[in-house]
Amino acid sequence: MTFRVSKTYLFTRYVELLQNALWGEITRLRKPPSSLVIPGLDTFYGQMGYHLGWLDAQLLPVQPQTGKLLRPTLLLLAYETAGANGCAFKREEKLHLGRALPAAVAIELFHNFTLVHDDIEDGDRERRHRPTAWAVFGTPLALNLGNGLASLSHLTLLTLFDEGVSTDLIARLGLCFDQTALAVIEGQHLDLCFETQEQVTITHYLEMITRKTATLMACATEMGAMLGCSDEPTITALRQFGLHLGTAFQIRDDLLGIWATHAESGKTPAGDLHRRKKTLPVLHAIQHASPQDHDWLRTFYSQQEAPRSEQVGQVLSILEHTRSREYCQHFLAEHCLLARDALRRVPAPTVPLAQEAIADLEALVEYVSEELWPIKTGDKAAAQEQALPLKAEPE
Ligand code: IPE
Ligand code: IPE
Ligand code: MG
Ligand code: MG
Repeated sequence: MTFRVSKTYLFTRYVELLQNALWGEITRLRKPPSSLVIPGLDTFYGQMGYHLGWLDAQLLPVQPQTGKLLRPTLLLLAYETAGANGCAFKREEKLHLGRALPAAVAIELFHNFTLVHDDIEDGDRERRHRPTAWAVFGTPLALNLGNGLASLSHLTLLTLFDEGVSTDLIARLGLCFDQTALAVIEGQHLDLCFETQEQVTITHYLEMITRKTATLMACATEMGAMLGCSDEPTITALRQFGLHLGTAFQIRDDLLGIWATHAESGKTPAGDLHRRKKTLPVLHAIQHASPQDHDWLRTFYSQQEAPRSEQVGQVLSILEHTRSREYCQHFLAEHCLLARDALRRVPAPTVPLAQEAIADLEALVEYVSEELWPIKTGDKAAAQEQALPLKAEPE
């Protein structure tokens, strides 16, 4: 299958390379030598192909409709940033990305495992403008295909051996990958527990999103940097970059989870309110609502039955009064500043490849920090006043 870079991808730099590598991993397993074909396994890999956006619910090829490929893109950009200045590859050498590609594919496969399970956990029937895997194949098979993506991600990482990466470095990368995998799953546990937990603070929330989202982006930039160079300050700076970008990215996702339209997000509008998620806007509103609204929110977030649409409307109106959207946009912007600071700690690039990669990392920060809704000047000042002091290094 040939992939064309379409406008739906925000980051076109490596899309074709990544799509072909991901699709290659699945098809290689989906069509084993005929002597090994076991009836039924074809649909196992086919269902992975459905989730990844290449097959329809009947497992027939469709115009690919995949995710943004943000994490593998981060990994490859960090690799070029660190490696072009160092000695990992010769300048502008066409094949230089091969060394980092298995790690990039592994991280995208792992990310997709988390999404398949996340949609079951969150009860979401739609993602990327399509029915979710569990909505199509049922929960047992979706759990299983998710597990398959996770296992495959680990195996893919080990193909770094074929690229000549040293055993020591692969062990270090494997440690980073597995520690991250555990942190993501811890974060998902916290996220689910917070739904019914009464006392959730913004500090608890930050611990949770650092685990469920930011660590995977930090792992992407750290692994890219480790494959590109052995300079520890560069590796640390790129990891910090991923961590802050990931934190900002999750806050952006929280904003979209309340205020994005179906056309913008490809998901149910206000889905996080229907699910009673304790996302940042909600936690801010609970802290800053009038006593009457505060009591109403407390009752709403402790009720058992499914929220009614007028209740969701009431939460939206309280969020407006507390200017929680503006507060979150400010908070998000602060993490983008910290990401930019981290990038400045990377030694100044001396070759065009690294300069271009750094410029693309900066463009990613621009994308995440772009104001989703215009903020009035007065609201900006109020949001600034309420902002928590940010930790420079949340880990
Ligand atoms: C969704 O991530 C999950 C979060 C961490 C918020 P993305 O928005 O990067 O998902 P895709 O892969 O592009 O669909
Ligand atoms: C994001 O979870 C983190 C993971 C999937 C591990 P969310 O539940 O916040 O993400 P979306 O909004 O469903 O993509
Ligand atoms: Mg979710
Ligand atoms: Mg979730």
